[in-house]
Parts: sequence; structure tokens; C-alpha cells
Amino acid sequence: MPSETVLITGCSDGGIGSALALTFLQRGFHVFATARDTTKMSKLKDLANVTMLTLDITDSKMIKATVDSVAKETGGTLDYLVNNAGHNHFMPILDENIEETKDLFNTNVWGPLAVTQAFAPLVIQAKGSFVFVTSIAGYGNTPWMGTYSASKRSIEIIADHLRLEVQPFGVNVMMVVTGAVISKGQTYFGDFALPEDSLYKRIEGTIAARARGDDGVSRMQTANYATAVVDEITKRTGGKFWYGDYAETVKSAMSPTVPQELLDAGAIQGTGVDTWN
Ligand SMILES: NC(=O)c1ccc[n+]([C@@H]2O[C@H](COP(=O)([O-])OP(=O)(O)OC[C@H]3O[C@@H](n4cnc5c(N)ncnc54)[C@H](OP(=O)(O)O)[C@@H]3O)[C@@H](O)[C@H]2O)c1
Repeated sequence: MPSETVLITGCSDGGIGSALALTFLQRGFHVFATARDTTKMSKLKDLANVTMLTLDITDSKMIKATVDSVAKETGGTLDYLVNNAGHNHFMPILDENIEETKDLFNTNVWGPLAVTQAFAPLVIQAKGSFVFVTSIAGYGNTPWMGTYSASKRSIEIIADHLRLEVQPFGVNVMMVVTGAVISKGQTYFGDFALPEDSLYKRIEGTIAARARGDDGVSRMQTANYATAVVDEITKRTGGKFWYGDYAETVKSAMSPTVPQELLDAGAIQGTGVDTWN
């Protein structure tokens, strides 16, 4: 295969993965675009230099089949693996259903890790890059996002260790610490409900509205985000790249000179914690 290759997980229409795939295509890459349901990748259908594959990142058999398909097409190499697939989640910590949070971690942590391990021989062969789409949520302590934030920060910590461990093989690891970006992520919570006995029942509407993206937060255009992110990925600088609305603000707020009270006051704004009494 003459052109450089990239595999991206979670390329359903309207999301970050789809926008990244389109941007890589514009740069002349061959793109392996994957999704749980390939009919959701209509924006990529019929384009040249795309191979669409079905991949649920929590399914080890599917991961292996995907590696085999890619290896067959590329001769055993892959230049970039972009771990993008993930799922958003909102729930007060005291109301979490532990089994559901295990599913969340399967998607946001163990899935990307399994995909990374499975593709490692191909990426090492190419002296390529692993990319992880992480989140500013992993730094912000925003109420009702605790387990989602923990999952995104967890995969980032794993990726940051991997970054050092694959240095001997000439492989690069980059984390895109993503701020607010327009995607389908805000469309899943139409039926959001707290448990009947939740201590937070009286602000259920506020929490549900935030889950649906009705939070007054600005979000970057997906294509603009993708352009800057692909620029950075292909520079192969490695480490953390903070991008998306509020990414720079959260990055600056991580300075040890910013007092915790100030961070907390910002984090609770508009969540219902700030107007509790
Ligand atoms: N948008 C933001 O503001 C923002 C901010 C920070 C971080 N992020 C991160 O950006 C990444 C992309 O999310 P997005 O915002 O673009 O949301 P999105 O539009 O909902 O896209 C998520 C993608 O992940 C896929 N996915 C979910 N579970 C999967 C699984 N088990 N196996 C394979 N694919 C799976 C979805 O497939 P289905 O269509 O089948 O559900 C979809 O293709 C996520 O990792 C998210 O945490 C987003």
C-alpha cells in the first residue's frame, strides 16, 4: 500500500471519528474507518481510499478479525492507530450502578487498551503512532461526570505510561485532551432519569439538561477540531495536545498556583450544586 495508513475507531456520522477520517483522507492517507455499525458511516461510504470495517472495541474476536483484515491489506503495518471510540455518561456518584460503570470502563478504558495491544505489532512494524482521544473532563471534577471523567483520565494515564514503554521501538504516543466539540455525544440522554430514591431528584431536570448538552457551553465545530488535531498527530510530537473549546482554560487551571476553592467554584457552576439552597 503506497500511502500512509490510519485506523480510527468510532467513525459514526456526526462524531469526532468521522471528522478525523475525512481530514486524514484529504491529506492522502488510506483510512481504515471502523464503527460498531458500518451503516452509520454514510459520510465515508463510496469515498476512495477508505476501508470500512465493523468493530466493537469491547469484542476481542472482532478486534482480532480487524487486525487480520488490516494486516492483509497493508502487508502487516499501520502508521497511526487513533483510539477515538468512547461513550459519555452522567450520574451522581452516589447513584451509580456499578455494573453500568464497568460497561463504561469497558468502552472507555479496556476497549482502547485491547485495540492498542492487538495492533501493536503493526504499529511497531511501521514505527508509527498510537493516539488516544481523552478529555478535559478528566481534569475538571465536574459534578455528575465522575465515572466518565475517571474513565477518560484512566486511559490517559495508561497511554502516558505506554508512551515511555514503546520508546525503544521508535513508536510515538499522543493524547488529545479534548475540550467541548460538537458531536453525537450530546444526543444520547433523551430518557435520562435518576433512581427514584436519589438524593438529587429535585435537580434531575438540571442534570438531564446538562447530559443533553443544554449547559450553555460553547462547542467547537467538529471539522475545525479535526483539522488541528490531524496537523498535530502527523507532526508526531507525542505527549498531550489540548484542543477543543475550554481545553486551554482547563490546562491553565491545572497550575498548582490556582487555589482549589476557585477550581471548585468554577466546576459546580450551573450543575445544581451551586444553587442547592
Ligand atoms: N465531543 C466532545 O465534546 C468530547 C470531549 C472530550 C472527549 N471526547 C471524546 O471523543 C471521542 C469521540 O466522541 P464524540 O464526542 O465524537 O461522540 P460520538 O459522536 O458519540 O462518537 C462516539 C463514537 O464511539 C463509538 N462507540 C461507542 N462505543 C463503542 C464500542 N463499544 N465500540 C466501538 N465504537 C463505539 C460510537 O458508536 P455508535 O454510533 O455505535 O454509538 C461513535 O462512533 C470519545 O472518546 C469521547 O470521550 C469528546
